[in-house]
Amino acid sequence: MTLWGGRFSTKLNDQAWDLNTSLPVDQRMALQDVDGSLAWADAIHKAGILSDEEHGQITRGLVAVRAEFVSGEFSFVPADEDIHTAVERRLGELIGTAAGKLHTGRSRNDQVATDFRLWMLQAIPELDAALKNLQAALVEQAELAGETLMPGYTHLQRAQPILLAHWWLSHFHPLGRDRQRLADLTKRVSVLPLGCGALAGTPVPVDRVALAESLGFAEPASNSLDSVSDRDFAAEFLFCATLTGVHLSKLAEQIVLYTSAEFGFFELSDAYSTGSSLMPQKKNPDVFELTRGKAGTLIGLLTGLLATLKGLPSTYDKDLQEDKAPVFQAADTLLMMLPVLAGAIQTITAKPKRMRAAIDSFMMATDLADYLVGKGIPFRETHAIAGKAVRAAAEKGIGLDQISLEAYQALCPAFEADVYQVLDPMKSIEKRNAIGGTSPEAVKNQIDGVKRLLSFENS
Ligand code: ARG
Repeated sequence: MTLWGGRFSTKLNDQAWDLNTSLPVDQRMALQDVDGSLAWADAIHKAGILSDEEHGQITRGLVAVRAEFVSGEFSFVPADEDIHTAVERRLGELIGTAAGKLHTGRSRNDQVATDFRLWMLQAIPELDAALKNLQAALVEQAELAGETLMPGYTHLQRAQPILLAHWWLSHFHPLGRDRQRLADLTKRVSVLPLGCGALAGTPVPVDRVALAESLGFAEPASNSLDSVSDRDFAAEFLFCATLTGVHLSKLAEQIVLYTSAEFGFFELSDAYSTGSSLMPQKKNPDVFELTRGKAGTLIGLLTGLLATLKGLPSTYDKDLQEDKAPVFQAADTLLMMLPVLAGAIQTITAKPKRMRAAIDSFMMATDLADYLVGKGIPFRETHAIAGKAVRAAAEKGIGLDQISLEAYQALCPAFEADVYQVLDPMKSIEKRNAIGGTSPEAVKNQIDGVKRLLSFENS
């Protein structure tokens, strides 16, 4: 039986029913729906709608329904249109006519928005914990890397030498910002729609501040029209999830590149690589390729919801039922991906020799220019002189370290024998010692900082 049959002469067409029902998607909000109903029962009892006896019956009934969901004994029937209908139907079976009083002054519009927010309030910490674990794996690798050198790239062209630890941490910080975004979003999720009715507010004199508090919300929504149709939190959640996906795809792409034979900077553990059905030698980074791929799917989920919301007339429209599937899918995707990534990162092996071999002397061309700056020559001029040195060496097929001192002095008389020292990549790295730089000292400070941050959160 639907909750709205009274006005209709025939039942809904079967296919229209299938289109209309949201149970396959929203049944995962079962516990939230029961909790919202328990709080609502308290509120309308206090407001004088339910007698003590009815309140007791409804509460005991809802607790029993909750237990059925937890134990897996709850069975849906074909007429359950959505999770709200299913809970109310079952309550009626358990306690009889008193169940019919629960929906007084409430609509599925404020109910569904409440359930969804309750669901998100528990999903955000789960996501946060998974992000934090991945961050911990990145810090672990950064510590393990010690003073391992690797080439740093811009435009995917060899640019300047960096510490591997610095590179690992460059993937830590975006996740930190993702976590901040989720924490900030929590404030906006924590606004209670319940008590807004279908659109215009509830005629029952409920104490919405107390109601909000009892459900763990920071405050009740202040405009009923806005509240039943506001899905900003869903769009924001999808944006957060999508940006995380984009961050992960950036890390993933580099692991895919760096595990290729051409780079050979890392080797994946067998536990996180896959083979080919045809080519026996293959060891594929599927985990990272899927991470890269799923970022695309996440972007689609975000744009899909925004398109659904665009131009919707106020207040509730059934289009809004499309809000949950993308949010659930995004959360599921990340919660599946993040632990796998943490494991894959934890077990990856760096190949310092290959990384070192990929640092050629040209990557110190900036240091050559900086060397002449130290001799009092303006950087614009030293940049041109170093550029000429690069061209001369490249033409001869030698490195900057193989240019003779005479040849250097022919380019600029300020060159002295100590020029070769600046062509040492570690020297180049050591010089970059300001906060945020790649020097061993700056990176050590960075590691200390992020570790303090993580352990502070644990305390
Ligand atoms: N299943 C619906 C949803 O997810 C619940 C709200 C239904 N409201 C209504 N007026 N039909 O949006």
